[in-house]
Amino acid sequence: MLRVAVVGSGPSGCYTAQSLVQQDPDVVVDVLDRLPCPYGLVRYGVAPDHEKIKSLQNNLRAVLEHERVRFLGGVQVGPGGVPATRLPELYHAVVYCVGAATDRHLGIPGEELPGSWSATEFVSWYSAHPDAADDGFVLGARSAVVIGVGNVAVDVTRMLSRGTAELSPTDMPQGALTALAASRVTDVSMVGRRGPSQARFTTKELRELGTLPDTEVTVDPAELALDPAYTDPTGLPAPQRRNIEVLRGWAETPPRNAGHRIRLRFFLRPVELLADAGRVGAVRFERTAPDGQGGVTGTGRYEDVEAQLVLRSVGYRGVPLEGLPFDPATATVPHLAGRVLREGSVAPGEYVAGWIKRGPTGVIGTNRSDAKETVTSLLEDASVLVREERPDDPLPALRAEGIEPVEWTGWCAIERAEAELGTSLGRGVVKLPDWESLLGAAHNSAP
Ligand SMILES: Cc1cc2nc3c(=O)[nH]c(=O)nc-3n(C[C@H](O)[C@H](O)[C@H](O)COP(=O)(O)OP(=O)(O)OC[C@H]3O[C@@H](n4cnc5c(N)ncnc54)[C@H](O)[C@@H]3O)c2cc1C
Ligand SMILES: NC(=O)c1ccc[n+]([C@@H]2O[C@H](COP(=O)([O-])OP(=O)(O)OC[C@H]3O[C@@H](n4cnc5c(N)ncnc54)[C@H](OP(=O)(O)O)[C@@H]3O)[C@@H](O)[C@H]2O)c1
Repeated sequence: MLRVAVVGSGPSGCYTAQSLVQQDPDVVVDVLDRLPCPYGLVRYGVAPDHEKIKSLQNNLRAVLEHERVRFLGGVQVGPGGVPATRLPELYHAVVYCVGAATDRHLGIPGEELPGSWSATEFVSWYSAHPDAADDGFVLGARSAVVIGVGNVAVDVTRMLSRGTAELSPTDMPQGALTALAASRVTDVSMVGRRGPSQARFTTKELRELGTLPDTEVTVDPAELALDPAYTDPTGLPAPQRRNIEVLRGWAETPPRNAGHRIRLRFFLRPVELLADAGRVGAVRFERTAPDGQGGVTGTGRYEDVEAQLVLRSVGYRGVPLEGLPFDPATATVPHLAGRVLREGSVAPGEYVAGWIKRGPTGVIGTNRSDAKETVTSLLEDASVLVREERPDDPLPALRAEGIEPVEWTGWCAIERAEAELGTSLGRGVVKLPDWESLLGAAHNSAP
């Protein structure tokens, strides 16, 4: 038996486990996660109003319920939990699928003002991540600026613009629902430093903004026209051309006095967050101009956009895991086809997959092929790895070291508690938002 530990139960961890058991009848897999709940960003990132994508959890569930796969939640690998150096003593191979847990920084003055948050923090809050800050976020805000034009920026813009009737049927935690229901934010500006043809959002997600009730999307045609590809989109790849068509449609639509406005802005580079009465009051942008090579240059002209809430949605970032090599430039673990590289040489028995391997890009499905590459490498090494003696079952050893994992029955108990909470609130499933209630439910795991 080849015994493998997969660290992280997001898409890359689940696809790694799936690929392992599909390709090798003699492998058993423990999927460890620091959280008592599985599925990574599918549970704690994918927007609550995207039920169809959320339902991918059912596919990942089937993996974790496989007879040769075991979920061990509430197991932090690293400081405060199982040292990363201990895992290779318990398993023949370890695959790190730990994602990219933090956010990139802008590095501009005022970034840390009250009212300025990373999109990561906002997403964690409305997704009920137990480590999320509970600030209310929208309290006292009328206007918001979202910096960045990727799909996460679209998600947070949409969540700020949706009404209670649309949010209530989701699994959003009650605290976030109450705060968003009371929100006075009517204006959201989503701002890109480059042009519309370089925006990272996808057309389906962009188009959805135009379907929100009582919300109008505005785009300034003069700002679009700064992009040479706007007037002549023929040379653009199809996805960008489709984005331009959607934006053109909005730019040509007359205003219609809706209760909420989403303004899509381009060629504005954030340079400073300005304070007003002890919190953020506006974002100062420098107007940029295309440099002809896909980049932009500053023009020395500035514009302040009012905002009592600023969400910086400029990408996620991997964090180093103690005991593993880390490339700070890419915030990933150096690897060769998924094999961890230590000082340029392959480290036997150590692998990576997902965002910690390739950086924070790509949709859920991208992690499937990524995991497959890693598993191919691992199984090529298997005949050497199994020569090492390992315990038949690492769980007693972990327990002896004070680790008490939340097993599958514990997770199922959390699911039941979330269904019961939803019923008591007159909603569907409602997520438990804190460690205490999650662990309380997990330990009450009698079926
Ligand atoms: C806000 C947001 C919304 C998204 N929405 C979509 C969408 O709608 N559709 C789509 O296709 N893609 C979406 N994506 C992209 C998709 O979520 C990612 O491609 C995918 O989740 C990356 O998978 P991963 O397994 O590498 O990382 P994650 O999903 O982040 O999983 C990592 C797991 O590792 C665990 N972990 C971390 N450190 C440790 C440790 N030290 N010990 C133990 N466990 C640890 C974490 O708790 C987590 O469960 C979204 C991404 C974001 C950020
Ligand atoms: N529904 C979905 O399918 C869905 C939903 C959410 C997320 N995802 C996926 O998850 C991944 C991560 O998404 P993401 O939105 O976090 O990242 P992203 O797609 O990389 O977008 C990041 C945005 O931030 C901008 N940016 C970066 N640094 C900046 C700076 N210093 N100043 C101003 N702007 C800056 C980027 O602009 P530049 O291009 O100019 O650098 C870009 O517009 C993506 O692959 C995404 O598709 C998918």
